[in-house]
Amino acid sequence: MIKNVFEVNSRGHPSPFNIDINRYFALIIAGPSGSGKSTFLRRIIGLISFYDTDAEAYFLDFKADEAMFPMTGNHVARGFYCLELFETVCQRFEARLNKQENIAHNLYLIFDEWQAFLAYLEQTDKKKHKDVLSKMLMMNSMGRSLGLRIILSSQRFLMSDLPGRYNFNCVISLSTSFLLATNNRQLLFPDMEKDEVIVKPRGYGYFQLEGEPVKMFRTIQVRDEERLNQRMQELFSRYI
Ligand SMILES: Nc1ncnc2c1ncn2[C@@H]1O[C@H](COP(=O)(O)OP(=O)(O)OP(=O)(O)O)[C@@H](O)[C@H]1O
Ligand SMILES: [Mg+2]
Repeated sequence: MIKNVFEVNSRGHPSPFNIDINRYFALIIAGPSGSGKSTFLRRIIGLISFYDTDAEAYFLDFKADEAMFPMTGNHVARGFYCLELFETVCQRFEARLNKQENIAHNLYLIFDEWQAFLAYLEQTDKKKHKDVLSKMLMMNSMGRSLGLRIILSSQRFLMSDLPGRYNFNCVISLSTSFLLATNNRQLLFPDMEKDEVIVKPRGYGYFQLEGEPVKMFRTIQVRDEERLNQRMQELFSRYI
């Protein structure tokens, strides 16, 4: 259980919201530039480090935002090196699938700027682009029972960037106004009507767990950034 992910309104009071990561194992985090995706991702990574004590995690940061993500080690890749680490995670997945590796702990694939990575691949290597998409489909359709946990963050998602869209069973929008656009709503929260969207400032968003209604949340501020950096580094230093 990953606790205190954000706050939701419960009978007029803000209350911390927990996500059962073993059930809601494939997350999409969406929002326009500056909406706070990387900030939110930092917090989630810290919580995974704290609550999933034997988890193993890989972090792929296509934008190479080292101020946000200063972690180092062979479970972290930036920019063009993301492809190589993505392949490594796929191999781990395949090893679990083929029972060459025990499913002893959760294995996280955390990817910031997923769509930008795909757009880059599409421009430079069409075959690889297709290959990466089909691997993502494999992983999100079969990964849950194999301990794979997937977190993708992106400024915008197109249906084509999310093979097996409905395998992503926890969808988070870090912007409210973003959902006034029909295409964003259709992709993220297909049942949500435009007049249900309440526009709020940065720090608010909407999320939906599979089978549940769309709900508003408010992000929780990190108090100690330095300790968070240490926790993040600790997570990506396991099993190496
Ligand atoms: N919940 C929040 N409340 C107030 N300010 C926030 C919040 N989250 C992030 N910010 C601030 O907003 C700015 C942008 O945040 P961040 O870099 O996380 O956004 P992003 O969505 O990752 O942007 P980009 O798409 O450009 O990478 C930062 O200065 C950050 O400190
Ligand atoms: Mg960012």
